[in-house]
Amino acid sequence: MSLGGNGGGRPLIELSGVHKHYDSGDGEITVLRDVDLEVQAGEFVSVVGPSGSGKSTLLNLITGIDRPNSGRVVVAGEAVHELNENALARWRGRNVGVIFQFFQLLPTLTILENVILPMDFCDVVPRRERRERALELLTLMDIDDQAHKLPNALSGGQQQRAAIARALANDPPLIVGDEPTGNLDTETADQVSLHLKRLVDEGKTVILVTHDQRLSQQTHRVLHLVDGELHRDRTNSRESSTRPNALSADSTSRAPQHGREPSLDEDSAVTRATVSSVVQAVWSGARS
Ligand SMILES: Nc1ncnc2c1ncn2[C@@H]1O[C@H](COP(=O)(O)OP(=O)(O)OP(=O)(O)O)[C@@H](O)[C@H]1O
Ligand SMILES: [Mg+2]
Repeated sequence: MSLGGNGGGRPLIELSGVHKHYDSGDGEITVLRDVDLEVQAGEFVSVVGPSGSGKSTLLNLITGIDRPNSGRVVVAGEAVHELNENALARWRGRNVGVIFQFFQLLPTLTILENVILPMDFCDVVPRRERRERALELLTLMDIDDQAHKLPNALSGGQQQRAAIARALANDPPLIVGDEPTGNLDTETADQVSLHLKRLVDEGKTVILVTHDQRLSQQTHRVLHLVDGELHRDRTNSRESSTRPNALSADSTSRAPQHGREPSLDEDSAVTRATVSSVVQAVWSGARS
C-alpha cells in the first residue's frame, strides 16, 4: 500500500530562535537555547545527547505537545506554537504520528481498535475504509495475525510495531519517536529499526530521539544536543545510513537497553502526550 509522500518546497520542520525554560522552585531552568533547525521532507533524523540535554523537549515542541517560550516552530506549514489546543489536536492527528518508548497502546482495546482510533478521531479516512486500512497497516508491520488481541498479549516488539501502525493511521507526513527502541532487546530493536527505515524509503519524514547507536547510525542525519544547544549536526555516510534517494521529498511510495525504568513523572507525561496525540477528543479530561 502507498504510505503517501511529502510535498516539496519548504522544509517540513523549521525551528528558529527557539528558547524553552521551566520555572522551578529554585528559579528558571533553561532547557533549549536558541535552537535553529530545518528538516526537509523525506529525511531520517536522529537526536542524540546526554540525559537531560533537552531531546524530548525538542520533540515535544515539534509535535506541539509543549510550547516554546520564544522563537518559532513551523511544521508541515503550520506555526504550531500559535495553535490553540483544539486546533493543535486536529493538526497533530493529521500531520504527526508519535511512537513512544513504552508503546502506550490503550490496554482495553484490541490492536486493531488501537489502530482505528486515530482514524475515528481525525475523520480523514472514510469510515467504511478504516478497518481495512488498519488491517493493511498491521500487515505492513507483519502483525496482522495479532489484530484481535489485547496489547498485553503481544511481545514488546509486536506492541511497538502496532504503535507504528497506529502512528501511520492517518497517513501523516511526519513520524516522531522518543526512544522507540529503548525498551526492546537488540534483535527486536533491529526489527523495529528496519520498519522505521522502510517508512523513510516510502516517503515519510522520521525524526527520532535515541540512545541506540545502532539506530542513529542508520539515520541520514544525527543532531547532537548538549545542555539545550545544538552542538553538532552530522550527516551519516551513504554506507551506514539509508539510501540517499530516500531523502527525496517526492518518493512515492539495537541495542539500547540502558534499562532505565521511567520515573512516575515521565510516565504521566508520556500518558498525557499519548492521550493528546491519539484520543484527545475522547479523553480530554485526562490531560492535566
Ligand atoms: N515539565 C518540566 N518541568 C520542569 N523541568 C522539566 C520539565 N520537563 C523537562 N524538564 C527538565 O528539562 C531538562 C531536559 O529534559 P528532557 O526530558 O528534554 O531531556 P532528555 O534529553 O530527553 O533526557 P533523557 O535522555 O533522560 O530522556 C531536564 O533537566 C528536565 O529535568
Ligand atoms: Mg527524553
